Amino acid sequence: MNIPFFSFAGTHDPIKAELTKAFEKVYDSHWYIMGNCLKDFEKNYADFSGTKYCTGVANGLDALIISLKTLGIGAGDEVIVPSNTYIASWLSVSYVGAIPVPVEPRVGTFNINADLIEASITSKTKAIMPVHLFGQCCEMDKIMQIAKKHNLFVVEDNAQAQAATCNGQMTGSFGDINATSFYPAKNLGALGDAGAITTNNTELNHKANVVRNYGSQKKYFNEIKGINSRLDELQAEILNVKLKYLNNWTKTRVEIATTYNQLLNGVGDMVLSSIANNCTHVYHQFVIRTKQRDALQEYLTKNNIGTIIHYPIPPHLQEAYSEMNFKKGQFPIAEEMAETSLSLPLYPGIKNEELEFVANTIKKFF
Ligand SMILES: Cc1ncc(COP(=O)(O)O)c(C=O)c1O
Repeated sequence: MNIPFFSFAGTHDPIKAELTKAFEKVYDSHWYIMGNCLKDFEKNYADFSGTKYCTGVANGLDALIISLKTLGIGAGDEVIVPSNTYIASWLSVSYVGAIPVPVEPRVGTFNINADLIEASITSKTKAIMPVHLFGQCCEMDKIMQIAKKHNLFVVEDNAQAQAATCNGQMTGSFGDINATSFYPAKNLGALGDAGAITTNNTELNHKANVVRNYGSQKKYFNEIKGINSRLDELQAEILNVKLKYLNNWTKTRVEIATTYNQLLNGVGDMVLSSIANNCTHVYHQFVIRTKQRDALQEYLTKNNIGTIIHYPIPPHLQEAYSEMNFKKGQFPIAEEMAETSLSLPLYPGIKNEELEFVANTIKKFF
């Protein structure tokens, strides 16, 4: 058996005709930027997220940067971020000139530990950026309470968890303004780069719209110095098609994770992730932890099972952040996660016998 880490076959192949039709629709419209397909998608994704507004942008990193810019966060401000996340979360803070202030995660959930946030708040803190890592919603009830108490903005990084919830409320609808990514391999992915911003705030929505389009709402009239980060018509229409299937795909992801959890419970020294109270997980990734991570990965590779390490180096130890002079050992939980985490194949289309093969191969290793 040969099991790739990821495959589009299970999601794309059954809807190829619809995706092709979407391409033809945009091709025939002769309108490729800021047209009706984008308008439709912005409405559809806002409805899906339970927010008033959605603004389509070019990618998830831009969605974060524009969100921070829209809030007026910049030089000298501090933004609380998780110590273990994809570096994009930190980069967005750095790109607006602000300082990322890392807070350690809870070991079981991989998500920022809400109980540690208050200790990192200073007079310069302007916002908290919870990242719903690997598909699990953060403890948004606690995080929103802390933000309210200290008068801070919340910007959700929802790149990995479209459709996850806390107390039944969707990710991307808690913060003042929130960012998501439709990178192809995300739970909702375009056929190229794409992203979006969601908010319930009319003023912030207006500003985000203006920032993504050269600082202009009326052509050639520029209110502010904006950027060009628009979600094009083709990707928007592809996303309109795929959004209809997201709930089914999410259900499938949860079923696959349930099977893995049953098959892998108590195997070797492996630790499976846990889910915080009142939160749900949409399994963008299925991440296990073991002290024998590198040897296990090598063994699985030899047995034709693809795996990926999310992420081998935490942001504070990346060369890109060397100027902040973080030391190894400063964020031990993030560092331990980087040394022990391994993501197993999980995608709609993976078969039960393939999950069994992965689990049996892991059992053989231990
Ligand atoms: C947590 C997180 N934030 C932000 C991003 C940035 O998204 P994009 O790749 O669309 O710029 C990603 C993408 O991988 C991500 O995983």
